[in-house]
Amino acid sequence: MNVLLTGSTGYIGRRLKYSLLNSDKKINLRLLVTDIRQVDEDTAAKVEIIEGNTFNPDALKESLRGIDTAYYLIHSMRSKDGDFADLDRVSAQNFIEECVRAGVKRVIYLGGLGKKNSISRHLASRQETGEILSSYPDKVETIWFRAAIIIGAGGASYEIVKNLVQKLPVMLAPSWVRTNTQPAAVDDVIQYLTLALKTEFSGSTIIDIGGERLTFLDMLKKAAEFYSLKRFIIPIPFFSPKISSYWLILLTPVPFRLASALVAGLKVESVVTNQNAKKYFPGIKQLSYTESLKRASAEEEDEIISHWSDGSSAWFHSGKKTEESGNATHTASYKKDISDLSRMKVWESVISIGGDRGWLSMNYLWQVRGIIDKFSGGPGINRGRRNSEDLRIGDSIDFWTVIDLIYEKRLLLAAQMNLPGKAWLEFILNETDLIISAHFIPRGLYGRFYWYILFPFHIIIFKGMLRRIIKDSLINEG
Ligand SMILES: NC(=O)c1ccc[n+]([C@@H]2O[C@H](COP(=O)([O-])OP(=O)(O)OC[C@H]3O[C@@H](n4cnc5c(N)ncnc54)[C@H](OP(=O)(O)O)[C@@H]3O)[C@@H](O)[C@H]2O)c1
Repeated sequence: MNVLLTGSTGYIGRRLKYSLLNSDKKINLRLLVTDIRQVDEDTAAKVEIIEGNTFNPDALKESLRGIDTAYYLIHSMRSKDGDFADLDRVSAQNFIEECVRAGVKRVIYLGGLGKKNSISRHLASRQETGEILSSYPDKVETIWFRAAIIIGAGGASYEIVKNLVQKLPVMLAPSWVRTNTQPAAVDDVIQYLTLALKTEFSGSTIIDIGGERLTFLDMLKKAAEFYSLKRFIIPIPFFSPKISSYWLILLTPVPFRLASALVAGLKVESVVTNQNAKKYFPGIKQLSYTESLKRASAEEEDEIISHWSDGSSAWFHSGKKTEESGNATHTASYKKDISDLSRMKVWESVISIGGDRGWLSMNYLWQVRGIIDKFSGGPGINRGRRNSEDLRIGDSIDFWTVIDLIYEKRLLLAAQMNLPGKAWLEFILNETDLIISAHFIPRGLYGRFYWYILFPFHIIIFKGMLRRIIKDSLINEG
């Protein structure tokens, strides 16, 4: 069976990719990815890769040629290049029309739960996408899964719940926390999506998935129980969705756009409206909410498979092409001799930067910059990192994203924070030195002003950073 997976660098798609590769050796898996460097070597050896996106007719045609079943796990919410609903509409239309031309038999899509006309813009767009993908029932069978909150390690909803419960002994609860929803465990979602490949359906079908019926308040209370924490939740009737979203970005790693999409989604009931999950997948026994927390927590102890910030490195600016940093008009470089040190230890110290370890020099300044960034709609500094030691291209580290990674040679990070220009942070290990460089392409007068204002701080920060990297690598060397 020839299968196309889109969105394989995203939160759901990355997990589904592993599941498909492990579940059936007879599947020929093809990936459509926007940036080929985001596919790790191991995966690249097992799949066919087409680079492009759904707005690129040639790439779409090539990716769907000879395909039996295509997964559509795409959304444009992170795009800065236009209205996400318009982009989603065009993307789904392009995709289904090419599926029809290519003779694809089945499309499998995962969207959101919630009644039309009462749902948020994001969920309405997910609904519209499902309708577009289902618009050729006589030519393509569309299996449209719908899920509300998905709980799993690295998932945005899980991180919100975990951070709120762990950080706040006393919580103010706005009215939306009392709306009913049905969270699903990410492992269950992946199982449905995987099994849908070989399940017989009676034509295009909508399948609602979700476990026990809970309110967000119940979810917080159960999470507190799970973490053995005593929490007091005080109802506040006048908390607006906007204030709620600001509250969430202050306390949790998610940026404003994601927080407001979640709050808007929780303002209206999002519950299962059909029993097709049981009908078509009687073998799947859905995990309870507490069990899904347990699994997420266990995965965090081990290695997080996918993270909500994995997808689209183009979220905040498009400086993700490695070459672009070479065009920087402003560069500041600092170096230190490492010829007497273990190269491997220096490299390990470099690639474990950020997250809980911090930015090694004047960390409080980075924190302040992160808070300013969050309140101006950026990702902020508390996004952390997927794994404290390991990195892959496309990973986010606080408000940076990894765009180049050459073992023991180069780490290049592109800034995703809101800036008057484009910025990169580069670490190079040459024969004798470790070099840290800040590269910048300013936008307008303010961009230039920004660079020169920060310049004295750069000197202190990067020299301090070099010292700490060297010191930590010496400590690790023993
Ligand atoms: N995550 C949840 O909690 C959740 C809950 C309910 C439903 N869902 C549904 O599950 C689906 C997947 O969500 P997700 O959370 O996995 O999203 P995600 O992490 O944001 O990933 C989106 C993926 O789509 C790719 N993509 C975006 N635009 C594209 C385009 N025009 N052409 C090709 N690829 C494109 C991205 O690639 P790049 O990274 O290369 O840009 C990325 O791999 C969505 O339909 C969502 O509504 C998710």
